[in-house]
Amino acid sequence: MSVRLWDKGGATDAQMLRYTSRDDWQLDQRLLAYDLRATVAHVRGLARIGVLSEAERDALVRELEVLEAQNEAGELRLTEDDEDGHSAIEAALVARIGDAGKKVHTGRSRNDQVLVATRLYERDALDELAENATAGARALLDLARREAETPMPGYTHLQRAVPSSVGYWAASFVEGLTDAIDVVRATRALVDRCPLGGAAGFGVNLPLDRVGVARELGFAGVALNPLASQTSRGIIEAQILAAAWQVMAVSRRLAWDLSLFAMSELAFIRLPEAFTTGSSIMPQKRNPDVVELMRAACSVVQGALAEVQSIVALPSGYHRDLQLTKGPTMRGLDEALATSRLLPRLVEGLAFDRERMARAITPECFATDRAVELAVEGVPFREAYRKVAAEIAALPAGDAAASLRARVSLGAPGNLALDDLARRLDRHAR
Ligand code: ARG
Repeated sequence: MSVRLWDKGGATDAQMLRYTSRDDWQLDQRLLAYDLRATVAHVRGLARIGVLSEAERDALVRELEVLEAQNEAGELRLTEDDEDGHSAIEAALVARIGDAGKKVHTGRSRNDQVLVATRLYERDALDELAENATAGARALLDLARREAETPMPGYTHLQRAVPSSVGYWAASFVEGLTDAIDVVRATRALVDRCPLGGAAGFGVNLPLDRVGVARELGFAGVALNPLASQTSRGIIEAQILAAAWQVMAVSRRLAWDLSLFAMSELAFIRLPEAFTTGSSIMPQKRNPDVVELMRAACSVVQGALAEVQSIVALPSGYHRDLQLTKGPTMRGLDEALATSRLLPRLVEGLAFDRERMARAITPECFATDRAVELAVEGVPFREAYRKVAAEIAALPAGDAAASLRARVSLGAPGNLALDDLARRLDRHAR
């Protein structure tokens, strides 16, 4: 068993060590690249204030760069014996360059070390999430443009309600995703402050160059109060998962609609062949497993969010409980990224059956429009409403396309506002 960073000579119980390390070293494998990058910045910062000589700095940076390259090549594998990635980095440096390696932890704690690595990882994940959601929203915007005037019933309570269109339906997801992207970006801004220099949560008696280190790592600024950034761990992760959940909740609604639209009895859509799966017993099946898993993926994120929220019910200061926010954060983000990555291609491949959708717009779908027409002619709306309710069976099967155009000209729901939506979405383009 390798020696722990905190080993002071006393015996430690092996079972206790396994219990406290659990899968943390495996999760740290994913943070290692970030941890190494932050360590390079920390080392340069220490040299700037004279705590490390230039020779020590150069030796440390050189070895850290070797470790970075090895890690990238998949050759730097953590083991349970390492306890965590932070310990592994220091152990590797000491093994390779001796005394200079023993100086790397001056002015930092694993508490701010894990915070900075986590924030760097989260920043990348949130960027990808926003990009994926933007690509999904663009695919839906294209669909809305293509099918702007393709009639489809609008449903409430899963009952046919009014004539509507595929474009209108698709545009609702564009706006929903754009809202979610706004939340993801706002969350990224919370993550974008550098916690290094906070040490164990109370700073350290050194004039650390916190601003320089933050700048080198590309942070927008420094996290001001170390106790605040330490205790933000878990709270920020909950916000990240809540933002991811919002993307997922919109995607889940899309998934739900698509599985309904694909149902044999509705058959409004055919999923792209490459996006269906088969049955092991029923030869004819083309199953929409993909949208079903997209639905359940939202629950995975929601479960991760609940897990993190319940862990952070803690008093001030670092507590080892916080380690257990790492797993659900990664699990939730992985799920949201995998789902959002799939979104654009799924949407691009959708094929709508115009014929079936037009036939689903039955006469009673025109009841509301008819009542409004009568009201415009001067019949008090409640009277018009009752009159149409009584006449409903006799209502002519209207021309859905004409009805949609009438709605657009009245500025009502047919107005898809696609250009406005596109403008909102473009604000996110980078
Ligand atoms: N694996 C630990 C975590 O994720 C690293 C920090 C350990 N700090 C400590 N004081 N034991 O929280």
